[in-house]
Amino acid sequence: MSTEYLKKIEEAASFISSKIGERRPLAGIVLGSGLGELAERIENKIVIPYREIPNFAISTAMGHKGNLIAGNLGGKFVIAMQGRFHFYEGYGMDMVTLPVRVMKVLGISYLFVSNAAGGVNKDYKVGDIMIIRDHINLMPNPLIGSNLESFGPRFPDMTRPYDRTLIEKAESVAKELGIALKKGVYLAGTGPTYETPAEYNYFRLIGADAVGMSTVPEVIVARHSNIPVFGLSVITNEAFSFADDFVNDGDDVVEAANMAADKLSAIVTNLISKL
Ligand code: HPA
Repeated sequence: MSTEYLKKIEEAASFISSKIGERRPLAGIVLGSGLGELAERIENKIVIPYREIPNFAISTAMGHKGNLIAGNLGGKFVIAMQGRFHFYEGYGMDMVTLPVRVMKVLGISYLFVSNAAGGVNKDYKVGDIMIIRDHINLMPNPLIGSNLESFGPRFPDMTRPYDRTLIEKAESVAKELGIALKKGVYLAGTGPTYETPAEYNYFRLIGADAVGMSTVPEVIVARHSNIPVFGLSVITNEAFSFADDFVNDGDDVVEAANMAADKLSAIVTNLISKL
């Protein structure tokens, strides 16, 4: 199984190399629901639709475009995923995390991840941006199965899943830009259902500030290879004090994420320019 998977990773990586040439991307960026806008800021873009990349899945989730975009952002060569693969789409964890393995082979030094999330912290408002300082994984672990020794150890450390230096740099960048940031714990469930009120309360009780259906698999796979990770969540719904007629709706989530996309783009672009 693992030799077959390694072959898939290599095939995808060499296809992408044939498009981007010898340049090594400094950072890989994963753009979540409604956050693809950042990719539009990339200069001298090379756009590679996922469907052209061997062994890549197709992005079926709403607000996810399905392109790999390489080019310059903040003066640095980066590679961005405009849309990701989710476990709830029915893809196995190997498919969900294949792009991060591929970006590792392409030589990224940092991984940036973003997502739309429900705010369970009662201080959070729709449109807030949260630096992910830690996570709680309630999805299957993507490293289950034979270990890819060439990528990392069997039992990876998770003491510092999100890089402290990158967090500090982001906080100073946001201050310069006059953008207020929250900092908290992201909890990942499988979805695709949104949570019941009791589940939101439970997640708050166990230490979560925001909840979503993605990101953690990619972070675990990046940390397996010791890649420093920086993550941002956009709070798209307030998961407490529900009005009588409140319903969670995917369209509202994408719309709220779209509205915060400019701020998120500014932070990431400035942060990358300082690396
Ligand atoms: N729960 C899970 N995933 C989400 C939510 C939520 O409330 N909002 C955006 N993604």
